[in-house]
Amino acid sequence: MGKSQDELKKEVGYKAVDDYVKSGMVVGLGTGSTAYFAVERVGQLLKSGELKDIVCIPTSVRTKEQAESLDIPLVTLDTHSNLDVSIDGADEVDPDLNLVKGGGGALLREKMVEIMSEKFIVIVDESKLTDGLGPGFPVPVEITPFCHEHTMRQVAGLASCEGCKPVLRMGSSSSNVNDGDEIAVTDNGNYIVDLHFDTPIKDARKMAEDVKNVCGVVDHGLFCDMSTVVIIAGSDGVSVKKP
Ligand code: A5P
Repeated sequence: MGKSQDELKKEVGYKAVDDYVKSGMVVGLGTGSTAYFAVERVGQLLKSGELKDIVCIPTSVRTKEQAESLDIPLVTLDTHSNLDVSIDGADEVDPDLNLVKGGGGALLREKMVEIMSEKFIVIVDESKLTDGLGPGFPVPVEITPFCHEHTMRQVAGLASCEGCKPVLRMGSSSSNVNDGDEIAVTDNGNYIVDLHFDTPIKDARKMAEDVKNVCGVVDHGLFCDMSTVVIIAGSDGVSVKKP
């Protein structure tokens, strides 16, 4: 019998920590069901004494809570803005290793932390690999609550977002299934609009730049040219891709 999705996530989460986290480092801790296992592994290795003197920066409230429960020492970007490594999952990975992230609503803190990391290690199972970003997973955009309908229209009207259907995230900010009556609010007090595409995004880098430039947008879930390495768990074992 093949491995379950959770077993695959654990495999890459543990491998990323074992291969890239060394004593004395400043480490960014991602958010989501795959990053969960990397955080768990950091906790284990600290407890056993195999890792020493590391400090970590969590990318969401829930990762912070998990790390605290494992007695992982935490700091912030305010005091530690040069990270050695960050480890996080992704919702989609294209052949250039550009990513869609933020299905779990943590895209802003993830990007703030991961962009400051010397190495950004992405951990996924093979279902996340795609030939083109977009149709397989909506692109989340974090926007300010003030006049959010206006901001949604501005984003959807961009030429580089042509064909997208914007959907305001409802219910929990950590899921895009919209299973609630209230507008979802992120850890930062903002809203999320999920951009749904029927066809692959033609130019993700251009779209990333255009969306970021809309006044009212805080950030978005396109992570272009950021990955140092992607570790992929599949039915045939673990493989690694580099840009
Ligand atoms: C959190 O906001 C996201 O960016 C996650 O990192 C991403 O959605 C991957 O999550 P899973 O590992 O749970 O699929």
